[in-house]
Amino acid sequence: MKGFLAFFGADNHTSPFAGWFIAKVLLSPGPGPAIGDTKDGHLAAAFVCKLPGMTKPSILSRRLMLIGVGVGVGLIPLSSAFAESLVPTPAQTEGPFYPAGLPADTDSDLVQVRGQAARAMGEVLHLQGRVIGIDGRVRPGTLVEIWQCEARGIYDHPRQSGRDRRDAAFQGYGRMMADAEGRYRFRTLKPVAYPGRTPHIHLKAATGDGRLLTSQFYVAGDPQNERDGVFRAAIRQPGQRERIEMKLAPAPGVEAGALATEMDIVIG
Ligand SMILES: [Fe+2]
Repeated sequence: MKGFLAFFGADNHTSPFAGWFIAKVLLSPGPGPAIGDTKDGHLAAAFVCKLPGMTKPSILSRRLMLIGVGVGVGLIPLSSAFAESLVPTPAQTEGPFYPAGLPADTDSDLVQVRGQAARAMGEVLHLQGRVIGIDGRVRPGTLVEIWQCEARGIYDHPRQSGRDRRDAAFQGYGRMMADAEGRYRFRTLKPVAYPGRTPHIHLKAATGDGRLLTSQFYVAGDPQNERDGVFRAAIRQPGQRERIEMKLAPAPGVEAGALATEMDIVIG
């Protein structure tokens, strides 16, 4: 809570959703979501700030928005049969590299840091999908965060050895609010392996009704997955594999040379 207040006080850009969150959750009596569950208040802080510069004003982002809205409109409302077949995205460890402090640029394009001419090294991946509750209803306004290492396996974190050698053109962390159709989208990198781990992207999703999921996404078919302890532990029932394995495909219509994947986040 202390971290939340400090962060909020420093940010004048409060969204309508933040107002709802403050009124309904932080100022309401009785039990509410466990703010203490959000490590050091980072997530709570992120929850209420407006995300300045969240999406760079590019043709690409506008195209992605149109694609997202088009797909989302076609999928709402979700059928009860669909809801019954839903398998939740399994919770997985946050790991040691959630940002100790948020970078100056926290928008949904991790490949391009605001104010820098260079583009991050590595293979571009468009990661997008919907946030869905286990009841089959989409969850607009969910804050989705991702973080990952750069193209050579180095995180932007004080615990990371060799951090000074990292590719400073990679943002390493991004966040965005799911839109009215529950859709989120990031431009990031195809994840790479580092010692002890198969390639993965970390994520958190915090819904407006106080649910918090921490998980990780993997590259489908990567032979290192089956030797990765975190990956193996996450798959405990049929259907969970598809929740965490990203099927990557070329996306020439979105960005030349880039990959894309569609990953729904199902909050159990
Ligand atoms: Fe990691």
